[in-house]
Amino acid sequence: MSVNKPESEVMETIAVPPAKRSFGSRAATHFKKWWWVHLIVLIIVVLVVTLPVIYVAYPNIAQRDINRSTLSITSMVISDPKPESFVLNQTQVIGSKSSYHPEIYGFDAAVSLLGAASAFATVKVPAVKSKDGAEVVVSQSLDLSDASAFSDYCTAVMMNEEVSLNIYGKPQLQQGSLPKTTVTYNKTVTMKGLNKLKGFDVTEFHIMTTVVNGRNMNGTVYIPNPSVMTLSMGNVTLNLVVAGETLGLSYLDNLVLKPGNNTVPMTATVNESAIIGMLTSDSNPYTTGVVPFTITGNSSVYNDQELPYFTNALIANNLTVELNITKALAEIGLTI
Ligand SMILES: *[C@@H]1O[C@H](CO)[C@@H](O)[C@H](O)[C@H]1NC(C)=O
Ligand SMILES: *[C@@H]1O[C@H](CO)[C@@H](O)[C@H](O)[C@H]1NC(C)=O
Ligand SMILES: *[C@@H]1O[C@H](CO)[C@@H](O)[C@H](O)[C@H]1NC(C)=O
Ligand SMILES: *[C@@H]1O[C@H](CO)[C@@H](O)[C@H](O)[C@H]1NC(C)=O
Ligand SMILES: *[C@@H]1O[C@H](CO)[C@@H](O)[C@H](O)[C@H]1NC(C)=O
Ligand SMILES: *[C@@H]1O[C@H](CO)[C@@H](O)[C@H](O)[C@H]1NC(C)=O
Ligand SMILES: *[C@@H]1O[C@H](CO)[C@@H](O)[C@H](O)[C@H]1NC(C)=O
Ligand SMILES: *[C@@H]1O[C@H](CO)[C@@H](O)[C@H](O)[C@H]1NC(C)=O
Ligand SMILES: *[C@@H]1O[C@H](CO)[C@@H](O)[C@H](O)[C@H]1NC(C)=O
Ligand SMILES: *[C@@H]1O[C@H](CO)[C@@H](O)[C@H](O)[C@H]1NC(C)=O
Repeated sequence: MSVNKPESEVMETIAVPPAKRSFGSRAATHFKKWWWVHLIVLIIVVLVVTLPVIYVAYPNIAQRDINRSTLSITSMVISDPKPESFVLNQTQVIGSKSSYHPEIYGFDAAVSLLGAASAFATVKVPAVKSKDGAEVVVSQSLDLSDASAFSDYCTAVMMNEEVSLNIYGKPQLQQGSLPKTTVTYNKTVTMKGLNKLKGFDVTEFHIMTTVVNGRNMNGTVYIPNPSVMTLSMGNVTLNLVVAGETLGLSYLDNLVLKPGNNTVPMTATVNESAIIGMLTSDSNPYTTGVVPFTITGNSSVYNDQELPYFTNALIANNLTVELNITKALAEIGLTI
């Protein structure tokens, strides 16, 4: 039976008891009449299957993979610091075990100390193809949205073995030819801090034969930096305190703290008569001539501007060193 029968014949055949017709011819007739219903059903099925994949499963998988990914900071350089801004050069490395490698578009990320009430700055994160080991290099001048929040971060870095930084943003992401989808990026990065500058030492200490700019002592300090941070702290001034009394100031000029061991020159303005007076008095508690100094933070000044965030971090941390004053005096021919 031909499919192209005139309509009258079709009407006739319908009158014939169905059992006598082949399945094929019945199906053909059915499709000829109801093809549009099948097409609509097919379209609905395709949409019902693919739309949730594209608009539910794909964004979910994308978000899941973002959730599972890790971030580590391998380098962080803070330079040209000003009270309300600094230049940031940072390298971050993405960790991901996903088999998808979507393009993550550039986005604004709010950066805060984990648990802080507010972010201290918004970093422009460049686009990156997400895959294990992908590097994200941030290099920009960063305006501090909340300088006091940054001060808290700097103090946390100074005082702790580890600090946690929260990075939050809503980047757009795209996998292959699928549409863009927006994900929530909320990562906590744990990085090493300065750990109270544990190990700090004054490795050399001399009385200068000629006073320069009021500075009468010089030497070398050793500052270990276990973090991956390079900090331009400008001209750092520290108080030299003995038994609760400030006997002088110590200067670390143009201090740039690099990762690892830092050995930097130091100068100081010390009230020598007060120290000698103390060591020669009847009540001198330091009979060996070795005096315990407490070094407390005074200020961090860069291009004549004080940087409260570094100053506060310095003030938060007290260091103690023992200086052999007898030895320093002996070097210039004085015995007490
Ligand atoms: C991603 O993490 C957030 C916060 O932990 C959670 O609310 C969300 O359900 C996670 N999404 C997926 C798809 O795993
Ligand atoms: C840091 O970033 C700034 C701004 O993008 C750039 O000019 C400078 O060369 C970078 N410095 C380093 C050490 O990468
Ligand atoms: C990001 O995640 C942290 C820890 O999981 C959570 O405390 C914080 O509220 C989240 N941030 C936002 C903006 O949802
Ligand atoms: C300290 O100053 C003296 C001059 O008074 C100089 O000879 C010496 O090299 C300086 N030492 C250091 C470590 O800067
Ligand atoms: C830093 O100094 C410590 C001891 O003072 C030493 O154990 C360590 O190897 C040094 N690190 C580097 C990178 O030189
Ligand atoms: C140095 O100490 C002596 C004795 O404590 C004190 O009289 C003098 O004012 C101090 N000098 C300075 C410049 O602080
Ligand atoms: C810094 O040193 C100056 C001069 O000794 C002193 O007046 C000032 O109080 C010190 N500041 C701090 C925070 O210790
Ligand atoms: C530190 O002080 C010296 C002398 O006052 C000055 O020449 C230099 O520019 C200062 N450094 C910074 C980073 O401000
Ligand atoms: C640091 O030492 C000074 C002087 O001894 C003291 O007044 C101050 O409270 C100490 N600060 C900290 C954080 O221990
Ligand atoms: C301090 O220096 C003097 C003179 O160099 C020396 O005799 C003495 O042993 C030193 N004291 C200590 C505790 O190192």
